Amino acid sequence: SAAEKGGYASFMLKEIAEQPKAVADTLLGRIDAEGSLTLDEVRIPAAVLREATKVVIVACGTAFHAGLIAKYAIEHWTRIPCEVELASEFRYRDPILDQGTLVVAISQSGETMDTLMAVRHAREQGARVLAICNTNGSTIPRESDAVLYTHAGPEVAVASTKAFLTQLVACYLVALYLGQVRGTQWGDEIRAVVRDLARIAEDVERVLQTMEPVRELARSLAGHDTVLFLGRHVGHPVALEGALKLKELAYMHAEGFAAGELKHGPIALIEEGLPVVVVVPSPRGRSVLHGKIVSNIQEIRARGARTIVIAEEGDEAVVPYADHLVRVPATPTLLQPLVSTVPLQVFACELATARGNEVDQPRNLAKSVTVE
Ligand code: AGP
Repeated sequence: SAAEKGGYASFMLKEIAEQPKAVADTLLGRIDAEGSLTLDEVRIPAAVLREATKVVIVACGTAFHAGLIAKYAIEHWTRIPCEVELASEFRYRDPILDQGTLVVAISQSGETMDTLMAVRHAREQGARVLAICNTNGSTIPRESDAVLYTHAGPEVAVASTKAFLTQLVACYLVALYLGQVRGTQWGDEIRAVVRDLARIAEDVERVLQTMEPVRELARSLAGHDTVLFLGRHVGHPVALEGALKLKELAYMHAEGFAAGELKHGPIALIEEGLPVVVVVPSPRGRSVLHGKIVSNIQEIRARGARTIVIAEEGDEAVVPYADHLVRVPATPTLLQPLVSTVPLQVFACELATARGNEVDQPRNLAKSVTVE
């Protein structure tokens, strides 16, 4: 009903708007005044986490994209090798698992059959399973060794938005916590990131306040058939997520690529007027990547692409090559997906609406997929 949507035209719009609160709620009580993580609720003994030799993340769809981003954070902050696998593929390839393997299963609903089957398989092989889940008491957390709940609140729209952002927060917390219990060389960086996380909800809010040009742009593209998304580093999974949103909501052909792969094939797709969204990493920090992606933007634009560039405030290098520029607040590189995903959600939602689609209930999709 209209009341349930709290004045918004759709649950999706409401849930996009709820993201700053969802992110803050997921952090609440998990970082103490000294900036240390307190995840006692993760009932896996610290000794086990200290000795883990491998992390394997299993998930589907949007949750899988959160897992892809988590890999960058986990490997960087903890130096534990981390694999990410589509839950539907996992058990069928006879994965190598043992008691030193920490499996992280990410699921909004906690009822996704593919992910549940992966969890069961992992536990049968002796691995410990930590669930990251948004639904209290659902099957995946019940069948896992431990759970870290995301506090996004109920997500009604089929397309996941606030659950994704809170999955990212939970993944960062797990990565930082692993780093903390293992005492890595990144102690100072971890403390700085914890501080940045504490104010990230405000950054998400700031992005939400500046979305009108993105909505306008989305409406202007309603007649297009294809949109491509490019990113590097954690921007690559963000590109995949932007493309998934557009497929499921706007029923458009949308694909996400690692920008470095362009020259290995996808650049052949570029033609006059093709909209290409590029997620640009921060020019600070990993500046080598930044320079490379600026060249990618130049290359596609020279071939006629209409470039839609998502870049950090103050990044002037992209300005000459951006047909449309979307600014996001500066964040540490690993946290950027929390702000750069938001314009892609708004873009897909508005484009779908402009095409006359029902955004809360896209055709052929169910909110939770309880069959394999
Ligand atoms: C996202 O917009 C989806 N509708 C879908 O990909 C979803 O993320 C996937 O089915 C996993 O669901 P879960 O998080 O409930 O396990």
